[in-house]
Order: sequence, then structure tokens, then C-alpha cells
Amino acid sequence: MNKKEDIIILAIESSCDETAAAVVKNGREVLSNIISSQIELHKLYGGVVPEIASRKHIEKINQVIEEALKTADKSLDEIDAVAVTYGPGLVGALLVGVAEAKAISYAAQKPLVGVHHIEGHICANYIENPKLEPPFLCLVASGGHTHLVLAKDYGKYQVIGRTRDDAAGEAFDKVARAIGLGYPGGPKMEKLSKEGNPDAILFPRAKIADHPYDFSFSGVKSAVLNYLNGCKMKGIPVVEADVAASFQKAVVQVLVEHAMLAAREFGVKQFAIAGGVASNAALREEMRQACEKRKIDFYHPSPILCTDNAAMIGAAAYYEYLAGTRHGWDLNAVPNLKLGER
Ligand code: KG4
Ligand code: ZN
Repeated sequence: MNKKEDIIILAIESSCDETAAAVVKNGREVLSNIISSQIELHKLYGGVVPEIASRKHIEKINQVIEEALKTADKSLDEIDAVAVTYGPGLVGALLVGVAEAKAISYAAQKPLVGVHHIEGHICANYIENPKLEPPFLCLVASGGHTHLVLAKDYGKYQVIGRTRDDAAGEAFDKVARAIGLGYPGGPKMEKLSKEGNPDAILFPRAKIADHPYDFSFSGVKSAVLNYLNGCKMKGIPVVEADVAASFQKAVVQVLVEHAMLAAREFGVKQFAIAGGVASNAALREEMRQACEKRKIDFYHPSPILCTDNAAMIGAAAYYEYLAGTRHGWDLNAVPNLKLGER
């Protein structure tokens, strides 16, 4: 039963290669979370092909939304708002979700709330952690982003560090491709790493002078490619599991080091991680230990809420809705949307 004051949000996410819709109650209770993944399709090309992604979104979006409403046992009449990711992401992919959300909100006469994709990833942490409230620091590591974000309050964010080149997930994907693991590389690299020695090869850990919270992963990626080439030229057999484990250790170490530096500087007592890479067990374990040592509460979403999904968009939209955020009929996709203050 819904109480009168309950806020039910239908959320839509289509920024990359997942067509997703969810129904979320009061920001933290997921009534449905439907994801139609395009991974099998993009695998054939070794990565996400933007035009194929848009075409697949337009094909799937109505079914996904219908399933989300059906699973939640809600009609459009019972929805208080329609939320949608409007950036950042692939423009053609975003446009499908934005146009759909606008059409539903217009037809059903419900308010429209545009959501920042990264804000969604951060808010995924609220869903399974009822205790978590701002302020906290969040490391968002996905295929497109590696950000250290200070969540000062609901809807109020300060990006304190970001990658200067490749995102962490992107580096995982590129190294996986070089080893011959295919797309998406992250989960396959993690699996292979379990069979390897993380101390077999010392790959570089990049630091950016005067910007201790920024990241750079193109150096470690190039170092792996050079190592593989060097072995090939010298006829030395490559132990792929050692390469994967050593690469993973280098990336995880940098992420955790920068995260803990920021935690100390900003004096936070809570730390969360988010995004596809946050489902990596080695990263979770290192973060858990580092936070425990410093008496910081550590939070992370379940893997299904780490990768792209619409439940996280519904969680973020709830707090935006409460703060009065409403978008008009002119809402557009913004591929390079910045995360900041409301
Ligand atoms: O958040 P996400 O689903 O999409 C973006 O917004 O980018 O993140 C996908 C990224 C991919 O690069 C994928 O390889 C990486 O997250 N990833 C992982 C793992 N699972 C997914 N990276 C490392 N270890 C994992 N277990
Ligand atoms: Zn994402």
C-alpha cells in the first residue's frame, strides 16, 4: 500500500548501452529495475557502437518501461514524476530516453525531472544503505568517468578530482582487448586476475603534480601494451593472468590512494564507491580495508546497481524532486553535462 505522502518515480536511463527503466518509491525502495543490455551486440565490434546503441534503445524502450510498470504493479496514474538521464553520455542514446520521458510526462501530465548520470551512480548507494546521508566522498569509476566527488548535500556536489585521459573502466577494457579477452573487459580481467600474481610486473602508478586527486590511466595502459609487444618481439611467452593481476593492482592502488588522500584532506567519515568498476572485488576489498583502518564507514552498491541502471536515476530524481527540480518541454540531451550544484 502506498501512503499519500509516498513519492513514486518512473525513471529511464539510456545514456550508453543499457536500455533501462525502474520504479522507485521515496528514493530508496526499488519496486522494479528492468535492464535490457546490448552487450552481446556490441561485443561483435569490440566496444560500444553509438549508432547501434541508439537504434537498439528505440527498439527496446517501450517494452522495458512497460515491464518496469508491470513488475512494480503501478499505472502511470500512480506515478508522481518521470525522471530521465539527460547527460553525460552518447547523444543519440540519450535522445531516445529524453524524448520518451518527455512524451510520457506530457501525455500523463506528470512532472519531468532530468538527472545527471553521475549523480545517479552516486545515489545508487542510497538504495541498499538506509543509513547513508550526505556529506560523504564518492569515487565514481566507470567506462566513461573516474571522478572523486564530495557529496555535500542531496543534489549538491563538488568534483574534487577527475581523470585527465582514460577512465578506469576504459583502461580495463583496452587492456582486456590487448590480452584478447574481448568486451567488456572489466569483469573478464577481474576473473583472470584471480589466477595471476599481482606482483609479477610493476606497472606505473601515475600522479599528477599539484593535483593529488586527479587520475591518469593512459600511462599504465600503454605500459601494458609495451610489455606485451616487448614479449612478442623477444619471443618471451606472456602469462596473461600475471599481466591482468599486475594491471588490476596498479589501477586499484591508485584509486584507493587518491581516495584516502581526499578522505583525510576533507575529513569525511563516510566513503562510497560507484560505477561499473565499483563491482570489482579487489577494489572493494582494498577500499574496505583502507576505510576500516581510518575508521571511515565504507559503502558500495550491489553489482547490479553499479553498472548502468534506472533505479539509481530514480533515487537521484527523488531528491531532485523534493528540492523542486522540474524540467520543461525544452529538455534536451547534453552529452558533456557537468556535475555541480543544483
Ligand atoms: O557504469 P558502467 O556500467 O557504464 C558507464 O557509465 O561507463 O561501467 C562500465 C565499465 C566498463 O568499462 C567495464 O569494463 C567496467 O565498468 N567494469 C569493471 C568491472 N565490471 C565492470 N571493471 C573492473 N572490474 C569489474 N568487475
Ligand atoms: Zn554509467
